[in-house]
Amino acid sequence: MNKKIKDIEVPGIRVFSNKVALYPDGINLTIGEPDFPTPHKIKQAGIAAITNDLTSYSHNAGLIELRKEVSSFFEDTYHFHYDPEKEIVITNGASSGIDAIFRSILTEGDEVILPVPIYSGYEPVIRLSGAKAVYLDTTKTDFLPDPAQLESLLSNKTKAIVLNYPSNPTGAVINKELMDRLVNVLKKHEIFIISDEIYSENTYEGIHVSFGSYAEIRNQLFVVHGLSKSHSMTGWRLGFVMGPENVMNQILKAHLSNSICASLPSQYAAIEALSNCRDAPNEMNKAYVKRRNYVYERLMDMGLSLAEPKGAFYAFPSIESTGLTSYEFAIKLLENKHVAVVPGSAFTHYGEGFIRISYANSLDNLVKAMDRIEDFLKNLPS
Ligand SMILES: Cc1ncc(COP(=O)(O)O)c(C=O)c1O
Repeated sequence: MNKKIKDIEVPGIRVFSNKVALYPDGINLTIGEPDFPTPHKIKQAGIAAITNDLTSYSHNAGLIELRKEVSSFFEDTYHFHYDPEKEIVITNGASSGIDAIFRSILTEGDEVILPVPIYSGYEPVIRLSGAKAVYLDTTKTDFLPDPAQLESLLSNKTKAIVLNYPSNPTGAVINKELMDRLVNVLKKHEIFIISDEIYSENTYEGIHVSFGSYAEIRNQLFVVHGLSKSHSMTGWRLGFVMGPENVMNQILKAHLSNSICASLPSQYAAIEALSNCRDAPNEMNKAYVKRRNYVYERLMDMGLSLAEPKGAFYAFPSIESTGLTSYEFAIKLLENKHVAVVPGSAFTHYGEGFIRISYANSLDNLVKAMDRIEDFLKNLPS
């Protein structure tokens, strides 16, 4: 086996969700996906595609009708343009887009800057490509990258930076003023910017600002997105990557060798999602905001320190006051109270001292889970 794959650990998220399934009264707060069904009209479009035998391969970059919908969605919502013919590739979820980007740009010895704590899906591909992740600590800057600190990490080995706002796991969003300052640094350096904006539609205060709206970094930027979170379509595996034409040609080759194309019925469902169901995220957000407020207030009342999550569907409280490591905390909570959360250390060691709680769960379950966590904290097992 390739040593690089052997060295990669199974993400902590899966370990805890597998374990909680063993308890009949278990509550799983590890889930990183909406708990709503895919909207009816989208499902019908997928069913119609199958019934009508639209089950073949498509163009490698995806159906042109879908690429046009993707293009017009970003144009209407965020006011920037990517050419559907040459600058958009439809992928099997954002994950396969991220994989295609890294495999296309990275070579042995390259460095990729990751503001941490960060989603665990990037580093394995970086390492498989022979490159190395360089961590930008955000734990003392409200989980947001500090431009001066970023500048100090740039070297002649730096090939790219990943930005993921709204953030998994912290729920942090980035404001325009900080984006301006980051762009001012990044535009001076010949590095790629990979902006994973998969949670953009789950922004609870103000409106999301996309790195795609900065013309000055257009030639170095990839915008990664998809319908998993916004339209509750995780299992449909539908994502997209946008970037400048000269590099998207290369991304398309990596995508071709890994998938040929995205699943065709899913592509038809996605056309429906982007043309007729743009409101779906707003409906789900009403529930997320209620749950976020509830979880935030309960955790604060328990004396845990946490930043109010402004987007995505995660709370990321500090559990340092308990004296337990995040892994010990998660295991003891699971075994004693049958509630599964993700230890912060799953998001690099900069997440140590925190846990991630997903509030993509019913309010009933969240009430029960918060009661159990409160009880757990009052009677901390030694
Ligand atoms: C930040 C982030 N990017 C990408 C993904 C993967 O999304 P997809 O289902 O589109 O592959 C996830 C999934 O949890 C995520 O949290």
